[in-house]
Amino acid sequence: MSAQESGRDRRVTIRELLEMKRRGERIAVLTAYDFLFARLVDEAGVDIVLVGDSLGQVVLGYDSTLPVTLDDMIRHAAAVRRGIRRALIVVDLPFLCSQVSVEETIRNAGRILKETGAEAVKLEGGDEKAAEHAHALVRAGIPVMGHIGLTPQSVHALGGYRVQGRDEANAERLRTEARRLEDAGCFAIVLELVPSVLAGDITRVLTIPTIGIGAGPNTDGQVLVLPDMLGLNEGFAPRFLRRFANLAEEARRGLAAYVGEVRGGTYPDADHSF
Ligand code: KIV
Repeated sequence: MSAQESGRDRRVTIRELLEMKRRGERIAVLTAYDFLFARLVDEAGVDIVLVGDSLGQVVLGYDSTLPVTLDDMIRHAAAVRRGIRRALIVVDLPFLCSQVSVEETIRNAGRILKETGAEAVKLEGGDEKAAEHAHALVRAGIPVMGHIGLTPQSVHALGGYRVQGRDEANAERLRTEARRLEDAGCFAIVLELVPSVLAGDITRVLTIPTIGIGAGPNTDGQVLVLPDMLGLNEGFAPRFLRRFANLAEEARRGLAAYVGEVRGGTYPDADHSF
């Protein structure tokens, strides 16, 4: 029985996600940052809800993820948790919460699990230090999703939001990082902005699921940033993004109608009064 068929109230588990990969079933992942949208995303049958540090751009209005704090993540993840009945919840460790030391990484990830009720954390990077920190979390009983390719917390080091692994040396580095994170005990890996052939190569050699964003069709699952795919983040139109709704247009229509009716005196009317 797939996670989708297993009933609304039973929580998706990491074991089920690994089984889905084994059976060749694709994994649907979306981000969420608040209670109401988390409830909608969960009702849609998404398998994993990621409380991403993309929160920085799409909720808090920063121009990168770097200013996002651990307290920001905890506040929003706790709200998301209250909206979720079925999906597995993964929360990003924001910038400088997983990079400094093993001890700090465990303390920060531990706070996320204790204070939000989420099941897992996501950690960016696939070098030896990132893998050591991921391994320490796994040993402490904290499930970890890895994230390689374009890692937005390193945007300045990477020279911008650009496709990673285009040349053979960088492609080989990403293959090595993916295997390293699997060996460290990660239960899944996000592949962001990598060529689809490379994403397919990595997906084939790993036993844990790969979740793509801007990584083509050859991964085990897909993640998108919710306001982007719902058409709320109008200025943002990378090639990989498909808008599945146009909520900005719908919101603008409703907001203009409200302002017009209040100004024109047609709302509230007798039907909406006591
Ligand atoms: O922060 C985020 O939303 C993410 C996804 C883009 C994978 O890390």
